[in-house]
Amino acid sequence: MESTEDAFIVRGGKPLKGQIQLSGAKNVALKVLIAGLLFDKPVTFKNIPHIKDIDELMHLINSLGAKAEFLEPNSVLIDGQSLSQDTIDLLHASRIRVSFMFFAPLLHRFGRAKIPNPGGCRIGARPIDRHIKILQAFGVDVIYNSETGYYEAKLQGTVIKPATYTFEKSTHTGTELAIMLAALADGESVISNVALEPEIDDLIKLLNQSGATISRENDSIRIKGASKLHFSGEVFTISVDRNEAPTYASFGLTTRGDIMVKGITEQDIKYFLEAVRNIGGGVEVEADGIRFYYKGELKSSEITTTVHPGFMTDWQGPWAVLMTQANGVSTIHETIFENRFGYVSELQKLGANIEFYQPDITNQSETYQFNIENEEQLESMQQAIRITGPTKLHNGVLDVKDLRAGATILIAACSADGESVISGASIIDRGYEDIERKLQSLGAAIKRV
Ligand code: EPZ
Repeated sequence: MESTEDAFIVRGGKPLKGQIQLSGAKNVALKVLIAGLLFDKPVTFKNIPHIKDIDELMHLINSLGAKAEFLEPNSVLIDGQSLSQDTIDLLHASRIRVSFMFFAPLLHRFGRAKIPNPGGCRIGARPIDRHIKILQAFGVDVIYNSETGYYEAKLQGTVIKPATYTFEKSTHTGTELAIMLAALADGESVISNVALEPEIDDLIKLLNQSGATISRENDSIRIKGASKLHFSGEVFTISVDRNEAPTYASFGLTTRGDIMVKGITEQDIKYFLEAVRNIGGGVEVEADGIRFYYKGELKSSEITTTVHPGFMTDWQGPWAVLMTQANGVSTIHETIFENRFGYVSELQKLGANIEFYQPDITNQSETYQFNIENEEQLESMQQAIRITGPTKLHNGVLDVKDLRAGATILIAACSADGESVISGASIIDRGYEDIERKLQSLGAAIKRV
């Protein structure tokens, strides 16, 4: 993927047709590779997407003295035996959001860890207060050194103690951090008000095949720690990316095309399928995937993103651009992250009719997953948009703000007549494997420059 300008040029206006095979799930791969450092022997993971976030993560793992290498295009070997550093450097940590998850392997191995405040996409503040609280619940002392910007963690005892803890508000990666801490704790932990996203179930499956005993019980997870983790299989194959599926579904529907998305099952994206059927989009569930096709005028919709199960926050950008082609006024209310509408200004450049509005909320703290410091904070926030369609989009010069916004802008450029330039290809590469090759196979006129 050589690129001098870090941009894509897209000539849109043509229906995209054909089939794509989903890649492995980014939000599983990032965690299981870190969990691989908990093991006493090397572990090989398959169906790992070759995306920028994975490259960054593997650099980070190697910088700690452990081994992370691609054995084949989508299989990665992790060997934590030579792990030697308990501190993550700022450069590597600033590149990926999940750097704080290294607390688990570093505390298990050394009893201490120093990790900088995480970076990641620019979608909201993305604090880690819930992650710090779960560390403390497991008997870890954590201080924030405001001089260095590092969190410094130390075990109170010699091993991680089991915990019984309830998250005040659920957190996807916070739940995964809790599971990794508990997997080697000396006893049984019960964590409640956990996240229910299916990506977490791959991590549970991996650890259950390695000596831990983990079970979901409604909104709790019970974890019996093992003295050591030894993966009993040959290789661990991760699930497909259920966030990639709605993206390609929207490429197909927004351009009035017909795309077979291979590897996805109905269960993974139930609420997305329901939403597509409700607006009159074509959906055909087949044995090896789901076909999305344009079959006539699209109706408007009212979507509110929620935690799983529900309409996922990662799907709302690709949905928004699809709604620019629907008849009437559609709304999207984002409740998981603040500042997740980075694509709106870019779609407006292409002629989209989108405006922000203040939704009428009775209980803000219950409605939103992010921390609300004060009621006034919400007044200034942009959590909901109104989209009026249909609008024939035209070409433009566009800028990518974050990963899912990048995909949204690409969909718009493929739908718009004329040639568009999209800067920030590397941000899209963080989470979408081989996106221009996949789009070219669907007939898109896209090239990387
Ligand atoms: C994970 O983010 C995913 N990222 C996100 O995907 C996904 O959208 C999200 O879960 C919801 O499913 C990865 O798995 C790497 P949260 P995460 O903790 O764990 C706030 C993508 O594009 N919060 O459930 O960070 C937080 O800011 C990404 O692939 C705190 O305030 O999500 C957010 O507003 C985007 N303090 C909300 O809670 C905390 O300590 C939900 O966050 C933790 C979270």
